[in-house]
Amino acid sequence: MRLGLLVSGSGSNLQAILDAAREGRLGGALPTVVISNVPGVRALERARDAGVEALEIDHRAFASRPAFDAALQDALRARAVDLVVLAGFMRLLTGDFLAAFPGRVINIHPSLLPAFPGLHAPRQALDYGARIAGCTVHFVDEGTDTGAIIAQASVEVRDDDDEEALAARILAEEHRLYPQVIRQLAERRIERAGRRVRIGVRRA
Ligand code: GRF
Repeated sequence: MRLGLLVSGSGSNLQAILDAAREGRLGGALPTVVISNVPGVRALERARDAGVEALEIDHRAFASRPAFDAALQDALRARAVDLVVLAGFMRLLTGDFLAAFPGRVINIHPSLLPAFPGLHAPRQALDYGARIAGCTVHFVDEGTDTGAIIAQASVEVRDDDDEEALAARILAEEHRLYPQVIRQLAERRIERAGRRVRIGVRRA
């Protein structure tokens, strides 16, 4: 299963995935290309350091969202990517792009969805007064963090938490959960019926 990883920033989740691949913890999943819509980000350096192709496709160079998504799609197709992994990728994808990779685009979000979609999810959880926070891996649809949930991990909110402390504990769970889900997808252990996703035994 060839992975195309889309990033926009620091790439700590990308690093967790690259480390898992190097240590043989990703099953048959192979990081093949890392694409950033923001030039010069740390995530691209992490890809190069791991010997994975790093591409910049700057969305600002395109006249429209469909034109940018078409360029992304071409780059991924040219590399025969099977699974598109969003790892801190800060753009919404068009329906046309998603139709080209049906059920093959996943994202990680730092909240227990459907609570707190969008930006600054740990801060949203603190401001709301939630006692349990966490992260969610989900299939991507056209909405913001609305796709079918694959897996979640929770962390307790502590009385003395600030945004930074809570976000860091959530991120540690992200780094554990994301490679695990990618492995399960590569092993074909994830079955989906509408919004219901089941992680079961390996399918033939
Ligand atoms: C993470 O919090 C992830 O949940 C969200 O974007 C952030 C990316 O961080 N989608 P990093 O670039 O992986 O360090």
